[in-house]
Amino acid sequence: MESLQLKKAFKEIYDAEPILVKSPGRINIIGEHTDYNGGLVMPAAINKAVYVAISKRDDSEIHLFSESYQEKYTGNINNVKIADKAWANYILGVVDGFLKRDFPLSGFNLYMYGNVPLGAGLSSSAAVECATAYALAQLNQFAVSKMDLALIAQKAEHEFAGVNCGIMDQFASVFGQRDYAMMLDCRSLAHEYIPLKLDGYKLVLFNTNVKHSLSESAYNERRAQCEQGVAWIKVHYPSVQYLRDVTEEMLLEYVKPKNNETYTKCSYVVAEIARVKRAAIALKDGDLDELGKLMFETHEGLSKAYQVSCKELDFLVEQVKDLADVLGARMMGGGFGGCTINIIKEEEIDQLIQKISKAYLHEFDLVLSAYIVETGNGSKIIETATIAEHTP
Ligand code: GLA
Repeated sequence: MESLQLKKAFKEIYDAEPILVKSPGRINIIGEHTDYNGGLVMPAAINKAVYVAISKRDDSEIHLFSESYQEKYTGNINNVKIADKAWANYILGVVDGFLKRDFPLSGFNLYMYGNVPLGAGLSSSAAVECATAYALAQLNQFAVSKMDLALIAQKAEHEFAGVNCGIMDQFASVFGQRDYAMMLDCRSLAHEYIPLKLDGYKLVLFNTNVKHSLSESAYNERRAQCEQGVAWIKVHYPSVQYLRDVTEEMLLEYVKPKNNETYTKCSYVVAEIARVKRAAIALKDGDLDELGKLMFETHEGLSKAYQVSCKELDFLVEQVKDLADVLGARMMGGGFGGCTINIIKEEEIDQLIQKISKAYLHEFDLVLSAYIVETGNGSKIIETATIAEHTP
């Protein structure tokens, strides 16, 4: 949908002049399940996004319309509560976040359209949250930093979607830059842009097109296991806040004797944080072989130790593991479905997609979708009705 069409669709429903904002989905090159452990991640924004058209109202009502679901929702600023429509909750959670931070919000009309594939692990929900946060900040000229927008968006996910996620997805959606990956330190929130130079290779996503129902409960459960590990160590090392602050030796001494499963999970996280550091060096050095190797290692850890993979994801990684033209592959995101991310030699991509699709169909009777990743920019205003373009 072009911005012109979005504007037209908005006007047809609300008879008002909107401002238009977009916020993208994301990929993650490496650093999985490390964000809520204060660790390192390496995401990039993609060129698929959620678009929001928004205008102020004279009253305190909230009017929302989702193009994808062809549904509307009506509520009120004075009584923001969890709705029975999941898509609306991502927006309402952001409204709630602004109100809790005492930003003066009045009623608004919002029309949302998106082309981030849903349920694919590309953070379409973070894109909705960040687009909403950015749009409300622009509409009301709130003095709020980009990082605070990401944090408000993350809180919406916690409180209105029930997923205790880390900051990676919302950070990537707000801060993304075309042709760059970002290494984010989720403890200090310091970040560095790293050019995504993959000469002769491309990042390709294979979408399993499954999302197992376990995903949300298991996610919160993993997070709780990590926190338990930290709590046991904290008794002996009071300054430890996250698994980021922990060494394998500490895990062996204080977590393994208490619970071997918790130990295995925590140990994966500690190893993964170390891998992100090595991956950043490899990417800067143009050592794609090393980067790829690290991605395979991550998959192994996520599948066997952290146990957030599934048979469809494992199958896709297994299929490419021994191919010389595939430097690395792993499941991406929270797990239990969604995509694998692969580094594939450019001229081999088409035939490989055909081959893997055929094998996947044969094995699971499911259609595989493949996307060649194009990176994109983070949250931005694309058209303004009454105010000048600027970045908050
Ligand atoms: C989901 C969460 C992120 C992150 C990843 C796993 O995408 O939203 O915060 O924890 O899973 O790395």
